[in-house]
Amino acid sequence: MPLTLDALQEKLKTWKGCPLHETANAVLGEGNPHAEVMFIGEAPGEQEDRLRRPFVGPAGKFLEELLGSIDLKREEVYISNVVKYRPPANREPTPEEKEQCMPWLKLEIALIRPKVIVPLGRHALGHFFSTMSITAAHGKPQKLTDGTTVFPIYHPAAALHNGNLRQSLFDDFKALGEFLRNKADSRKVAER
Ligand code: URA
Repeated sequence: MPLTLDALQEKLKTWKGCPLHETANAVLGEGNPHAEVMFIGEAPGEQEDRLRRPFVGPAGKFLEELLGSIDLKREEVYISNVVKYRPPANREPTPEEKEQCMPWLKLEIALIRPKVIVPLGRHALGHFFSTMSITAAHGKPQKLTDGTTVFPIYHPAAALHNGNLRQSLFDDFKALGEFLRNKADSRKVAER
């Protein structure tokens, strides 16, 4: 049977490879299985755990606003997390939890095959570039060896705690929108 997102979802429900499964529900990514752009957050929070969907709480509302600012709807993109379970009391995920959950993210990326990956915050950035700081890297696209572009942006929740980051997030999303438009334009030229 070919591996699909639905099959992944079913497998994750019975997976016990990360101790967080004892205290939280599994939350896989969701969205367009053919998305050109994939957003990756840190880990589910309270609402995400309750509804078993990524980015449906306050950070998710802000993410939708940011997507709207570049004419994207959440259904058009794919949205996931590094860690598939809510850490107790929303603490940061540990290196072990990130490592344990990593195969799921890798499978999601392999299935979606996005052209552009947007790590939201330092935990997701660390999945691709372990020594890069989000403060230095945000808004600057990087290429992976397979040609995928990684476009790091601050985590939307960071702006909910630190209002100064709000403008930076809107600026980075504007730059992402321009990047995606240029990519689409050069594809059209290549097809002519
Ligand atoms: N923060 C995240 O990193 N992911 C979510 O799904 C929600 C909040």
